[in-house]
Amino acid sequence: MDYKVFVNQFLKYPKEIGTFTTSSKFLAHQMARAIGDSLHVVEFGSGTGAISTEILKVLRPEGTLTCFELNPTFCRELEKIHDDRITVVNDLCENAPKYADCSQCIVSSVPLTIMSKQQRHLILQLAAKSKKFIQLQYMPVLTKEIKQYFPDVDLKFVPLNIPPAFVYICKSTPA
Ligand SMILES: C[S@@+](CC[C@H](N)C(=O)[O-])C[C@H]1O[C@@H](n2cnc3c(N)ncnc32)[C@H](O)[C@@H]1O
Repeated sequence: MDYKVFVNQFLKYPKEIGTFTTSSKFLAHQMARAIGDSLHVVEFGSGTGAISTEILKVLRPEGTLTCFELNPTFCRELEKIHDDRITVVNDLCENAPKYADCSQCIVSSVPLTIMSKQQRHLILQLAAKSKKFIQLQYMPVLTKEIKQYFPDVDLKFVPLNIPPAFVYICKSTPA
């Protein structure tokens, strides 16, 4: 993966990208592990594929991973991942139901905190239709809001990342 591509795009579009570097392998693995035995996984904000490649390592051979990424330069990087299970869609994650089965598992690293409340509501409303929603955050400031959409919310701290991160693991039905 070319980190220079990520940094260059961040300098151009800081608000959309939200952070200057890709997720660490450790964080990406923690998020990927949380998919459990989900067969159809949808990813929101795949960037250059840090989390996508870890998801593919744990995803069953008959599974699918549909990656939504609004930045076309990042999409070109994602298209370099050679795996029959992956589909890359250059569109807003809000449009995901037009392209993919979002009912099983959504893994997201879109910058919810810096989005408008309206855009965040659209994304969380859509995520709440999925059995499992795994969301990356750098500050755990959305707990109260996320709990309005999911009855079962678990928050994990992942220190081995720049910056240290938090991962919400949300289920639409209580465990
Ligand atoms: C924090 S970066 C994470 C990138 C990558 N998943 C990683 O962990 O290294 C967030 C990504 O979400 C993308 N993004 C932001 N808003 C989006 C939206 N509404 N739909 C799809 N992608 C979006 C950005 O272009 C960026 O690539």
